[in-house]
Amino acid sequence: MKKPIGIFDSGVGGLTVYKTIRNHFVEEDLVYFGDTARVPYGPKSPNTIIDYSIQNSRFLLQQGIKILVVACNTSSAYALDKIKELTGIPIIGVIDPGAEQAALYTKSKRIGIIGTEATVRSGAYSQAITKLIPDAVVYSKACPLFVPIVEEGWQDGDITKSIAKHYLSYFEDKDIDTLVLGCTHYPLLKQTIQETVGEKIRLVDSADAIASYLKRLIPEETDGAKGTDSFFVSDNEAKFLQISQNILESPIMSLKRVRLFESWFTDEI
Ligand code: DGL
Repeated sequence: MKKPIGIFDSGVGGLTVYKTIRNHFVEEDLVYFGDTARVPYGPKSPNTIIDYSIQNSRFLLQQGIKILVVACNTSSAYALDKIKELTGIPIIGVIDPGAEQAALYTKSKRIGIIGTEATVRSGAYSQAITKLIPDAVVYSKACPLFVPIVEEGWQDGDITKSIAKHYLSYFEDKDIDTLVLGCTHYPLLKQTIQETVGEKIRLVDSADAIASYLKRLIPEETDGAKGTDSFFVSDNEAKFLQISQNILESPIMSLKRVRLFESWFTDEI
């Protein structure tokens, strides 16, 4: 029996990764989970990000997936090793593919990273990039308002432009030639980001890099039979449907709400 590929994010951002995977792998069955009840992950503490990521992964593992794509930089930065402890199936995060792409693009070895507060604080991108280019100079900037803007469906407009200008002015004197969109929500603001930083800076969207990672794991497609798509969220199905329509440019046929709160524990202080 065909097993699906599982993909999760804190919300709609991972749909940018889902879309690229769907375009490259027409025959694969895909299951997407967006944790819309608990988005954003970026301002949360590492322990909470790990807990949520493990719950999301467990849910997708219950769907019988063969590969898990953690389409969330924040989860990838903190929880990838913990998720790998849950299962023997391949787990793909977004940080290494993004760092590889950046290393491929840069000529000046001066690279910018934008991401959530948690991703920037983790230093995961700087580490991954300096592993590939030891003398790279990496500048990182958290852009926390970008996630709610995207979840609100405000891809463009004056407010979005002025917030982008505010955050990205940090790079004005850094002389970078490459900027990593270190959050899967950010490719949805690509046009505004590109206009703000100028055409000379090349943007890295890790979704493309993930597709080439997956090509190494998935055999050539043969029978031409279209794969199925199942979508799950933890809250607000109507809003997810509305925003996803803009991102995917086609309606979602199967969407269910899932409740992840089966039990609770307290931490000792
Ligand atoms: N899209 C996610 C990421 O790539 C998470 C954003 C958030 O929930 O703060 O980091």
